[in-house]
Amino acid sequence: MRLTVDGKTLEIDADPEMPLLWALRDIAGILGPKFGCGIAACGACTVIIDGSPVRSCVMPLGQVQGDVTTIEGLAQDGRLHPVQQAWVDEQVAQCGYCQAGQIMTAVALLDWNPEPTDADIDNAFGGNLCRCGTYPRIRAAVKRAAGARAGA
Ligand code: FES
Ligand code: FES
Repeated sequence: MRLTVDGKTLEIDADPEMPLLWALRDIAGILGPKFGCGIAACGACTVIIDGSPVRSCVMPLGQVQGDVTTIEGLAQDGRLHPVQQAWVDEQVAQCGYCQAGQIMTAVALLDWNPEPTDADIDNAFGGNLCRCGTYPRIRAAVKRAAGARAGA
């Protein structure tokens, strides 16, 4: 099976029913997306497929259509993606476990809605759990990234 992940073409020899997250982590060695719940309930495994945030733990490999972007594909030429930079500037992460999924959700949200309201942010992040409770910082970082994009 051929997949495009973070701009690279990968040949994956696996059962088409295998969840994308398993293929990324266990076969391709892309460890940025995290396993949290395995049932699409926490968002730790979120990747972007053709602009949409996707729970890779429940996405069968054989049903992946489009280019996959993981947290590992965001930085370009050694420069952090504006959303990653906003996360650093707002010091969002605590334990960090959920944050790859949170950042991918933010990237997808801002690509679709460059000026999200608080309600838009709450709606987009409703399925991304953070046991450390970083939600206020996530909201601040999303707004900072939105501002950075607007000023670019
Ligand atoms: S591991 Fe995929 S949503 Fe929790
Ligand atoms: S930063 Fe620890 S779970 Fe979110």
